[in-house]
Amino acid sequence: MAFWHRKKRPAAGAEPDLTRLPRHIGIIMDGNGRWAKKRGLPRTAGHAAGAETFRTIAYRCRDLGIPYLTVYAFSTENWKRPVEEVSAIMDLLRKYLLEALEKMEKDGFRIRFFGDLEALPPELRTLCLETEETGAAVAGAKYQINVCLNYGGRDEILRAARAWGRDVLAGRQGVEDLTDEVFSRYLDSRAVPDPDLIIRPSGELRLSNFLPWQSAYAEFYFTDVLWPDFSPAVLDAALVDFQRRQRRFGGV
Ligand code: FPP
Repeated sequence: MAFWHRKKRPAAGAEPDLTRLPRHIGIIMDGNGRWAKKRGLPRTAGHAAGAETFRTIAYRCRDLGIPYLTVYAFSTENWKRPVEEVSAIMDLLRKYLLEALEKMEKDGFRIRFFGDLEALPPELRTLCLETEETGAAVAGAKYQINVCLNYGGRDEILRAARAWGRDVLAGRQGVEDLTDEVFSRYLDSRAVPDPDLIIRPSGELRLSNFLPWQSAYAEFYFTDVLWPDFSPAVLDAALVDFQRRQRRFGGV
């Protein structure tokens, strides 16, 4: 058992209390490359398996009744990867977004993107905008998936600060009126409640620029399981663990 498991983990197979679920879960989908390497496969096979896991876990969250899921799909730093790997990830995104576009209405969900979409291949960017538009029109959707794409938390905060600064210069905002509620409206995550639970698989104990503003009071769950092996049972274990925490939000 790794050192961060200070408390005994819940027994395997324990089921979460469906009346006390987080409203919003964030997941850093990590470990695709190592999963592939362990099997002697190219890294891109790990991303393909990771994308399947994304679909499984996204539907599982919806079925449990968790209203928001945010996944880290591609960071502002991921462009440093070999060009074939970047284009394989973009191809997967295209494939899963096309599928989502078809199913959104029937399956009752919508998708939004967090990140700077300007740098994406134009055709993928157009698909993202179309996906957001279609999702916004899904009447009564009780479930929203936020895909972080060309996303970095600091970049998000800087873009928000620039937009707010422009509003100050235009006289639409006053410097003394800035509160965290006002600033939140400039973030990509506007109108989305802060994540209650952030999950990082694959044994890394870092936030890696994922939702730094929004995760101020989030609970964290780390597991050694690699993302392609992450199953509904692992999600259940994370939820049971979350439900044993006492959240005080700075109070007593
Ligand atoms: C991190 O694992 C994973 C990524 C950078 C890409 C995640 C992308 C997908 C799961 C596919 C597309 C997404 C959707 C939403 C359909 P890593 O490559 O850093 O793994 P490693 O640390 O083991 O090398």
